[in-house]
Amino acid sequence: MSREFSTVGVIGLGTMGAGIAEVFARHGCRVVGVERTEDSLQRGRAHLQRSTDRARKRGKLSGDEQQAILDRMTFSTSFDDVGDCDLVVEAVVERLELKAEVFRQLDDIVSPDAVLATNTSSLSVTDIAAASRNPGRVIGMHFFNPAPVQQLVEVVRTVLTEPGAVADVLALAQKLGKSPVVCGDQAGFIANALLFGYLNRAVSMYDGGYAGRDDIDAAMRLACGYPMGPLALLDLIGLDTAYEILGTMYRQGRNRLHAPAPMLQQMVAAGLLGRKTGRGFYTYEAAGSPVAVDDAQTPAADVVPAPRRPIRTVGVVGTGATATGIAEVFTRGGYDVTCVGDTPADAGEEQAPGRFDRARSLHDLGDVDLVVEAVAEDLRAKQALFEQLDELCKPGAILATTTSSLPVIECARVTGRPGDVVGMHFFEPAPTIELVEVVSTVCTTAEVAQTARAVCADLGRAAVCCADRAGFVVNALLFPYLNDAVRMLEARYATADEIDTAMKKGCALPVGPFELLDEVGTDVALTTQRAIYRESREPGLAPAPLLKHLVTAGYHGRKTGRGFRAHSHS
Ligand code: CAA
Repeated sequence: MSREFSTVGVIGLGTMGAGIAEVFARHGCRVVGVERTEDSLQRGRAHLQRSTDRARKRGKLSGDEQQAILDRMTFSTSFDDVGDCDLVVEAVVERLELKAEVFRQLDDIVSPDAVLATNTSSLSVTDIAAASRNPGRVIGMHFFNPAPVQQLVEVVRTVLTEPGAVADVLALAQKLGKSPVVCGDQAGFIANALLFGYLNRAVSMYDGGYAGRDDIDAAMRLACGYPMGPLALLDLIGLDTAYEILGTMYRQGRNRLHAPAPMLQQMVAAGLLGRKTGRGFYTYEAAGSPVAVDDAQTPAADVVPAPRRPIRTVGVVGTGATATGIAEVFTRGGYDVTCVGDTPADAGEEQAPGRFDRARSLHDLGDVDLVVEAVAEDLRAKQALFEQLDELCKPGAILATTTSSLPVIECARVTGRPGDVVGMHFFEPAPTIELVEVVSTVCTTAEVAQTARAVCADLGRAAVCCADRAGFVVNALLFPYLNDAVRMLEARYATADEIDTAMKKGCALPVGPFELLDEVGTDVALTTQRAIYRESREPGLAPAPLLKHLVTAGYHGRKTGRGFRAHSHS
């Protein structure tokens, strides 16, 4: 039988503390919320009122239930009032000396068998526990923002934590309706250790002018089904918190990819902390509001600037699923589509029933306005194709590649019209995924890039524009994160199941990293990660040895019946 925690103290009622207090109160616990000053206590109380008001307005809580939740809360500016709590959760500012002082004070106030938890996301739980006279009862209970919504709780045990305390807190988190995972005291625990490298890369990508704010965020939402883009998420988390977490991760692992992007530091110094101050990467209606308003960086609504070339006829080269999907998208969009195979053997292949005409050879593309190639990801094959297209297509025709892992410039350079070559990276399945990355090389003219964007808009697709770097936007952010997850597994810090759960329940991602790796294929992940690593030579981006071993063993994921997990072929 696990222990009952009926009265819980929460020290610090900022965004996280107030959210945590709400979680406990909703599940029938009496909660004592403590803040240092009357002002901050008022803010915490208002936060709880707003959050429960919102739930009531949405019909999630009745008026009586809301009142019962608020009645279970008491507020105080004195630590003495948590004296009879069975559990105290500390959620004060991320400064070790502050947290240590809280734990020292709690020692003198709570009963000897009370459990003391910290919600720290960036400090060592062991360092905090060391401040207590009884470190065996100190544990990490790491909630995710917004605490009432995200289901993950990381229960962090130090080498000193008593096993009984771990079991009791784990059972409590389950009773709160959460999905807890137990982990050791490593910077970032599971979820943040994987999330923040990704967020940091997104900031660098934005700061480097490689893609725009809204494009980066839209790319991750539309291609990966993330609930929010990385820059919007940073605004939710708070840029100061992100800076602290990255700093700790960097100090512990010395991985340069965790060194906070300089832009983060500048924004923190300028007080642009995100939603809580009303401005971060986005501008909000008011401090604390989740409603973003237009600002100087908001792209003009749906207008692709001129000049553009008229596009009526489209050639699609390739015979695989991607080419078929893309041809379907253009045909449905009302374009006159000619499909050809890329090799003589493909020419004259069976026609896809009733969808589009399959011409016999590349010669039939002489008059098209736009050619989209979707042949195998082999640079020589693509270059040979571009040489031919350059010869055969009329002047002014745009030549687009759907490559996901090769430099677009390598295709452009073998043609006599590098300005007319652009990347149009569709995601699979092309008919359902709304996103297209429009990739400009150093040679692509603005007119060609704008034409590609206009075509995407015409097809009802969201085009995001980016420069010709390995992985473009989505893969450049996604695959290093997947690779980090493999490294975490390799280090035996957590299991594939725990890591998948942490990312799905902590960050509301639609699939966990290992589920995704098995879906896209470990071989594809390795090729993409290699391309990213080759370009940057950044040691932290080198493919994880375990990923290479799986590929060598033929464990390519679902398609081979085995990847990180075994799959039945049914
Ligand atoms: N407090 C309470 N409830 C909230 C809330 C808040 N601040 N924000 C949203 N909700 C609730 C809403 O009431 C709604 O619930 P119902 O469906 O029951 O009505 C639900 O969440 C969905 O909200 P919305 O429809 O308003 O908005 P949405 O669908 O756009 O979701 C979101 C908003 C929940 C924030 C979602 O975008 C999301 O999950 N984003 C990912 C957040 C994430 O990754 N968090 C982890 C950050 S890392 C971290 O926290 C760790 C750390 O140490 C820093």
